Amino acid sequence: MPGTNTVLIGAQWGDEGKGKVIDVLTDRADWVVRYQGGNNAGHTVEIGGTRYVLHLVPSGIFRERTKCVIGNGLVVDPAGLLAEIAEVRAAGFGVEGRLFLGDRAHLVLPYHRALDAGRERTLSDGERIGTTQRGIGPAYVDKAQRTGLRAGAMCLPDFADMVRARVEDANARLAHQGQPVLDVAEVVSRAVAAAKELAPLVADTVDLLHGAMARGESILFEGAQGTMLDVDFGSYPFVTSSNATSGGACTGSGVPPNRIDKVIGVLKAYTTRVGEGPFPTELLDATGETLRAVGREFGATTGRPRRCGWFDAVVARYSARVNGIDAWALTKLDVLDGFDTIRVCTAYEADGRRHETVPADAGVLARCRPVYEEHPGWKAVLRGASGLADLPAAARAYVARIESLTGVPVEILSVGPGRENTIQIPAKAARG
Ligand code: GDP
Ligand code: IMO
Ligand code: MG
Repeated sequence: MPGTNTVLIGAQWGDEGKGKVIDVLTDRADWVVRYQGGNNAGHTVEIGGTRYVLHLVPSGIFRERTKCVIGNGLVVDPAGLLAEIAEVRAAGFGVEGRLFLGDRAHLVLPYHRALDAGRERTLSDGERIGTTQRGIGPAYVDKAQRTGLRAGAMCLPDFADMVRARVEDANARLAHQGQPVLDVAEVVSRAVAAAKELAPLVADTVDLLHGAMARGESILFEGAQGTMLDVDFGSYPFVTSSNATSGGACTGSGVPPNRIDKVIGVLKAYTTRVGEGPFPTELLDATGETLRAVGREFGATTGRPRRCGWFDAVVARYSARVNGIDAWALTKLDVLDGFDTIRVCTAYEADGRRHETVPADAGVLARCRPVYEEHPGWKAVLRGASGLADLPAAARAYVARIESLTGVPVEILSVGPGRENTIQIPAKAARG
């Protein structure tokens, strides 16, 4: 709809299918804006059977009329971004005049990656976060500590000196950690070369987006990671270092809260998590392996196998609250096609008490045992369905149960990775 600004966020632990849903919704958006995270994200878009994985470039890049913004809230690895732009170009899509890098976004440089990997190496089992080792945490540390370098600096004449001073400082920290130090001259010369290539994309994206809104253009905000990986609301400390929730869309773009019209939560029909940390509905048995195999649950960024489990309505309800979710995009319903019975976690039990919402403490969350209800499976192929009426009654009942447990309607139902495997449900469609 013209002039409508929509935030799309991941409602679980990431990898809910945000890239696919953004691609579907982008036919109605003038702008797609990433607002947090970095190339720890891996967003898959499948078009005509070809699979593209984006890490920093917004998933709107495959619609020629859509403009894409990498907002101020991100931490951007210049080398990673250049490699991705090359892939987008090779796929036949241009970026000139369509892709903008916010001048207030922070840079991820090789020392951030080295510090990230180094810290993970020194942590013991139980402490390790299982990061993507893309330097995300250390780059956000620099930002909060006010020692970071921003994208705008790439256009300044003393950029090389700025990088040099920081590599020297980081080398002292790496040496202190017992890690190998970086070659200062090499890091500086690569950063300068990347800066030269990226400088034409650097823009005041706050001004750009406000200009777009003044013209009545619509913006789609593409969240990365998910609510349970949010640095404030997630399973801290087993989280990422940014606000993946809807509030981050404002601080990470310069578009204020009173200009957000709608929040869509992307929810997988079961649960996955990659990396360490508590996961109450995790299945460490053959059922978990089946979910991983059928759902092809391997990380889009690191290739790591994703941990799999049943749908967790406690997480979904909590996510609906902290994000203000107006509607769900429910994905990967087709992955449940073959199951005789499907379980849904409705509450937790820990330390002799019942939990209806997600506890703040990761230790308590790790002790939570799911309270399950069972649903009959539909044992039918959903992939070809084009409307709610095409779904077996058991699949419709499963969707309706997710709606009633969360108090949020499902507006988009995804039954396969392609654009065409999508059912859009009118707001007041008859269900059941
Ligand atoms: P994101 O990080 O939230 O964008 O999600 P990822 O791209 O990391 O992971 C989602 C995976 O599921 C990708 O491989 C998608 O192609 C795939 N996918 C998305 N929606 C569906 C769906 O409805 N059914 C199936 N079978 N696969 C899907
Ligand atoms: P998308 O956008 C799933 C996880 C990592 C690790 C934790 C911290 O594709 O959904 P970091 O490298 O950010 O410091 O790692 O967060 N993680 C993700 N998990 N999807 C993602 O992104 C993720 N980005 C980070 O595995 O547990
Ligand atoms: Mg992903």
